Amino acid sequence: MPHFDLDRFVQQLCEAAGEEEAVKKVREVMTGAFRDPGSIKSAMPEYENDDEILFEDETVSIWFVRFMPGLHLPPHDHQTTAMIGVYDGAENNHFYLREPGRLVHKSTRRVGPGDVISLKPDGIHSVEAADGKPSRGIHVYLAKLTQIERSLFDWDSGEPRPFTDDNYYAMKRIGP
Ligand SMILES: [Fe+2]
Repeated sequence: MPHFDLDRFVQQLCEAAGEEEAVKKVREVMTGAFRDPGSIKSAMPEYENDDEILFEDETVSIWFVRFMPGLHLPPHDHQTTAMIGVYDGAENNHFYLREPGRLVHKSTRRVGPGDVISLKPDGIHSVEAADGKPSRGIHVYLAKLTQIERSLFDWDSGEPRPFTDDNYYAMKRIGP
């Protein structure tokens, strides 16, 4: 198994994102790389920020994402396909559906080292670190995420709100 090389991985994702079957191709690159999460872990630097944009253009955004214990990222969508791979620790991804006047929790998926999951553009999830330990992963979005108008959803009513820093800080949950 070749050692993980971040520059090469970014290059492969860019090429895959430009193909006709981008979702399938990007998924193949992700699952290929995350077959060896230990190699990713030993190659990735420890970033100062909990999220760091590794690359973005019009077709793909590649983020390093760390979740620290005690923070629960509120329910949100992406308005583009999202793929999450974890190489250290684990994320608990909680999935929701909107029903009139409420947000309904449907399932929870623990995403641990080597796992890759995909979310459809209208998929809604909230995320927190599992097991009281930090999680580290690479999140890939098939568009320029920073320019997408997407939503946070009220924990109870499911009411959408613009995904702004202010709304995010007002809605995030802190605690064990
Ligand atoms: Fe997300």
